[in-house]
Amino acid sequence: MIQIAIDGPGGAGKSTIAKAVAAKLGIVYVDTGALYRTVGYYVRSKDQDPKDAAAVGALLPEISIEVKYVEGVQRVYLNGEDLGDRIRTPEMSMYASAVSAIPAVRAFLLETQKEIARKNSVIMDGRDIGTVILPDADVKIFLTASPECRARRRYDELIAKGQTVSFEDVLAEMNQRDTQDSTREIAPAQAAPDAVILDNTGMNLEESVDAVIDLVRQKTDFLK
Ligand code: DC
Repeated sequence: MIQIAIDGPGGAGKSTIAKAVAAKLGIVYVDTGALYRTVGYYVRSKDQDPKDAAAVGALLPEISIEVKYVEGVQRVYLNGEDLGDRIRTPEMSMYASAVSAIPAVRAFLLETQKEIARKNSVIMDGRDIGTVILPDADVKIFLTASPECRARRRYDELIAKGQTVSFEDVLAEMNQRDTQDSTREIAPAQAAPDAVILDNTGMNLEESVDAVIDLVRQKTDFLK
């Protein structure tokens, strides 16, 4: 069994890199942001303010979230329904960021995440994986890149999905979300003291994946 934690701000390439590493190592890739996005989606569907802790907390008992892995691909079900790309919009990014600052929401999602890591070898990405969810992870990485580089990647991703966005809006929203996520009181998105900081500005996917695999090799005997 192995546990790899990848934290960092949006657009650093966590999910793309983690997916590729998971495929190479034959382990499960866990996207924890999808869980916060799913809660955000439900709050939006009920027309509630995602920053209103009491209103959001009151909705939690109505929410059942199930995570399944179908041929290595994560599927998240909200009350039995797979939301697919509906949780991937810029609006849902902001809803996810807002609800993720609410302690009751973090507590609600904690056990789901821990349980997946108990049952599988994982590479898990998020904001608090190395600090809260998997404090004993074998490898902890805090992945980052310059704001412009991260906004460019996010912009390209959204355009490729056919969404209409401007680069300036993507950059502004990303900066707002990063500030929100890294300065919140509970589980702020910060590097664990024992995490390796990997800045992949100017690195392509293959180089970033190799850098992660090198760390796995240095810190574990999983590949021996
Ligand atoms: O990784 P992402 O962009 O899908 O995450 C969406 C939001 O969810 C992010 O802005 C902060 C929150 N989040 C979190 O607080 N903790 C995590 N482990 C993962 C995501």
